[in-house]
Amino acid sequence: SSAVDAPSDESLKDFISSLPSREGWPKPLIQYKGYWFKPRMLEGVLRTRRAFLPRADDVVLATQPKCGTTWLKALAFTVATRSRHGLGADHPLLTCYPHHLVPYIEIPGAAGGHVVNLGALPSPRLLATHMPMSLLPPETRSLGCRVVYLCRDPKDTLVSRLHFENKLAARCGGVGPSMDDAFGMFCEGFSPYGPFWDHCLEYWEESGARPDTILFLKYEEIKLDPARVVRRLASFLGVPLTEQEESSGVADKVARMCSFETLTGLEVKQVGGVSHGNRVHFDNSVFYRKGEVGDWVNHMSREMGVKLDRIVQQKLHGSGLVF
Ligand code: A3P
Repeated sequence: SSAVDAPSDESLKDFISSLPSREGWPKPLIQYKGYWFKPRMLEGVLRTRRAFLPRADDVVLATQPKCGTTWLKALAFTVATRSRHGLGADHPLLTCYPHHLVPYIEIPGAAGGHVVNLGALPSPRLLATHMPMSLLPPETRSLGCRVVYLCRDPKDTLVSRLHFENKLAARCGGVGPSMDDAFGMFCEGFSPYGPFWDHCLEYWEESGARPDTILFLKYEEIKLDPARVVRRLASFLGVPLTEQEESSGVADKVARMCSFETLTGLEVKQVGGVSHGNRVHFDNSVFYRKGEVGDWVNHMSREMGVKLDRIVQQKLHGSGLVF
């Protein structure tokens, strides 16, 4: 099994309670190896490090939450399975939620409440994770598993996060943090799966070193030209669009099928909710909000935007990664 310094199940909770913890978000976050996690997410991360067995032909979709995970799952699933499922009216995406089609490695119950046995899935597996690169089982790298990383402008990510936390909190009868508080915490690198910049930077650097195994994408570039990203995904996944597919407009068809408009229009037809590791069952709508670039201006002052941009620029300085 994976190499690992993670403790056994019995001692998991004890171990977690021995780690640094900080209040501010609706659930206190726990710090592990430089990153902040909700306690139940960290349990999943530690279990994954101990027990998950990567396969060389795994494809892993890696994101920070609120960067467009749901969208990437829809796109990658549709591209990867098009020879099997086609793009017609009976496509699984039209009746199943993207989180049901592509399970998380470390969040076992996210696929509609039932725990997916990853070991029983046929190869090649399409999987997702929010884990930082440095916490993935080392075999992911040594076996050369392909990774698609998706990130997003930090201001929009934060605004999306804040809305998400407020929806969650409301469902549990509480209130989420204010914009000002969330902003301050995010700027300190204190957010779920954060620091934001470290998470991006690890995958960014790896994508530069191993471009064949890591495809680095931004939410904004998908928004700008989704068909182009469909082609890039297809090539990266080893199933490039054929001439015939090009002439029949497959890239645009996939982009349309996975668009915010299509998926939100289908919401009532997509079945089931999502249990996201914290015993709260969400209905599907929680992962669709506005789906726009630049919505931060409606929720944050210009000054805040400039401040966050400066912090992120400074943290990413010299890496070549810019937002
Ligand atoms: P907003 O809150 O800015 O609208 P994640 O899937 O990682 O949780 O990210 C959620 C964000 O992605 C939300 O952003 C959501 O609206 C947006 N999103 C979900 N599906 C999308 C799609 N098909 N196209 C564009 N954006 C999408």
